[in-house]
Amino acid sequence: MTRAEIIDGKLFAERLRAEIGRQVVRLREEHLVTPGLAVILVGEDPASQVYVRNKAHQARGASMASFEYRLPHNVPQENLLELIARLNADPAVHGILVQLPLPPQVDTDRVINAIRPDKDIDGFHPVNAGALATGGDALVPCTPLGCLMLLKHRLGELAGLRAVVLGRSNIVGKPMASLLLREHCTVTIAHSKTRDLADECRRADILVAAVGRPRMVPGDWIKPGATVIDVGINRIETPDGKGRLVGDVDFDSAVQVAGSITPVPGGVGPMTIACLLLNTLEAACRQLD
Ligand code: GUN
Repeated sequence: MTRAEIIDGKLFAERLRAEIGRQVVRLREEHLVTPGLAVILVGEDPASQVYVRNKAHQARGASMASFEYRLPHNVPQENLLELIARLNADPAVHGILVQLPLPPQVDTDRVINAIRPDKDIDGFHPVNAGALATGGDALVPCTPLGCLMLLKHRLGELAGLRAVVLGRSNIVGKPMASLLLREHCTVTIAHSKTRDLADECRRADILVAAVGRPRMVPGDWIKPGATVIDVGINRIETPDGKGRLVGDVDFDSAVQVAGSITPVPGGVGPMTIACLLLNTLEAACRQLD
């Protein structure tokens, strides 16, 4: 049995960020505009703090302007909405990201709906979600966009392939399915209520796992030669107490069956942030007068 090719998302993301950096410099030279990314973090969740720091750091690494806003966990919703209104009106800010999840006193949908759709670099606003679903000109959620780039890099043409997306979230599953449909795949969305998950997965030429359950997909759910994209980032306990990150796919058994597979870490994760920068650049270009 041959082992799957490992899809190196870290390397792909590094190259993408370098290319974005070059385009940012060109935008500044030709239009005197520096793309600006505003990131809002509510509360002190350690994982979210790491993500937000990474996003700001990488934005600066791509020669963009980065603005960080940290609000206490008990911030009133009105204050958050006021900040978003201010950023919506600020011409130096081209992209706004509110790190999720938000604390319970805040209505997440109201916050997402308050972001100007052309600054919604997460692609979560209903205007962008609707445009993606209807084939319009959307800002596309970063994680599925990164997955699609890896798939096209690995497979080239996707038309006619059978794709199974495991998970139906608004952040990954649904937009991923829309993107694959746009590429003319035959798409199934499978989820916790699907009757025979293993059977559905075994039919997939492309399997995208985005359920947030550590190592849920074993190798014997995978069609030999399939391309497997693992979106999961789950921390599990280890005997040494340090913990370790694993995906939604059981890598060790899947790598024996798949044709190619993304590792965790170093697969989809780095692509998500690179695509956030790509969306910020795209938003800045769209906002040129
Ligand atoms: N929290 C986890 N993933 C994401 C994401 O893609 N965007 C935002 N805003 N928050 C997140």
